[in-house]
Amino acid sequence: MTLRERDKRHIWHPYTQEKTAPDNIVMVRGEGAYLYDEKGDRYIDATSSWWTNMHGHAHPHIAQRIGEQAAKLEQVIFSGFSHEPAIELAEKLLDILPVGYGKVFYSDNGSTAIEAAIKMCLQYWANKGAARTKVICFRDAYHGDTFGAMSVSARGVFTDPYTRLLFDVVFLDTPDYTNGETIKAQLREAMAGDDVAAFIFEPLVLGSAGMKMYPPALLDELIAICAERKVLTIADEVFTGFGRTGRMFATGYLTHTADIICLSKGLTGGFLPFAATVTKDYIYDAFYHDERAKMLFHGHSYTGNPLGCAAALASLEVFEMEKTLDKIAAISAAHAAFAERLSQHPSIVHVRQHGTILAFDFVTEQEGYLSDLRDRLYRYFIDRRIMLRPLGNVLYILLPYCISLEDLEEVYEAVLGFEV
Ligand SMILES: Cc1ncc(COP(=O)(O)O)c(C=O)c1O
Repeated sequence: MTLRERDKRHIWHPYTQEKTAPDNIVMVRGEGAYLYDEKGDRYIDATSSWWTNMHGHAHPHIAQRIGEQAAKLEQVIFSGFSHEPAIELAEKLLDILPVGYGKVFYSDNGSTAIEAAIKMCLQYWANKGAARTKVICFRDAYHGDTFGAMSVSARGVFTDPYTRLLFDVVFLDTPDYTNGETIKAQLREAMAGDDVAAFIFEPLVLGSAGMKMYPPALLDELIAICAERKVLTIADEVFTGFGRTGRMFATGYLTHTADIICLSKGLTGGFLPFAATVTKDYIYDAFYHDERAKMLFHGHSYTGNPLGCAAALASLEVFEMEKTLDKIAAISAAHAAFAERLSQHPSIVHVRQHGTILAFDFVTEQEGYLSDLRDRLYRYFIDRRIMLRPLGNVLYILLPYCISLEDLEEVYEAVLGFEV
């Protein structure tokens, strides 16, 4: 039996309609921006493997650091015990994040980083004896697939089977470059009572919604309005963190910072599932108490895993060693030039870009995540050995930062060659 047949027999893949999807391509090796399948065919990883990969696959420095850590201390319970890589990583993250953050809570993935953040906000108010339980979010938000994260995300195709079980939230319209006044008014209205615990948002880019972008100035104002009403704010930088928007963090474009920042995906350079929920000290202080019942009731078996910490530290070292922010600037410039070319394209609209994130919509009668165009686009690029994963009729390009300008051009040319 081939690997593909064995895969089909026993594995259930995420976000895949197994009945109609083509067989999964089995990858055996990665190097830089490329992945190689079992037949030896080389693919350009143009989604950075679900937005995780930063410096390229199997980066030798990160691989080495993980190996060294694995041979020394691979895992230890993180309640009552700690270890040097976790301490060092917390120091390093607090060093590169905007000033004001003081504590790092580790978990395993983007959804768990969000669950922890939501629970921190709800328990913050409970510990203070305040009846604040409402959460505000954007209508098209996506914050993950666990129940809390789904609750603060868009209601729609991703959540339909579970809608009845999700907790109620207040939705604001999805922000864009024209509706700032409406959103500020909606936010003020949502906070009319004293019952709002938190406002959660994806800063500058709503990724899974179709790379919907909005201006930093608006977000700055929304955070300031929340601060006036003492509503806690959660910046979900799971996608935008580590250079995607051109700066190390999307928060770097703001003057008002959120009370909590969630990081995952690129945190380990794309090597290991790992996450951090980073808070300002006053959040932590609300849990710091003589009463044991005031502690944060959250944790996972692998919280603070030393291998994840080692990978994250190594990835941050690569940022410095390889001057990754310069590479990010080069990709951003190439995207900007290509965006100009795309704006002339007869079948493409809403070309948008923030740093290394480039997205656009193909004109079609059937829009949305379940658009039939999605499968045609997907197969077209796979036939050209380019891994792209359209969100319905929306195509985005998100590359590992080590991509060469020649490979970038190959991706661009393939986009131009697609006929709707
Ligand atoms: C903004 C954002 N938050 C949270 C998540 C959830 O992360 P994970 O898939 O690691 O649970 C994602 C995943 O795409 C995301 O884009």
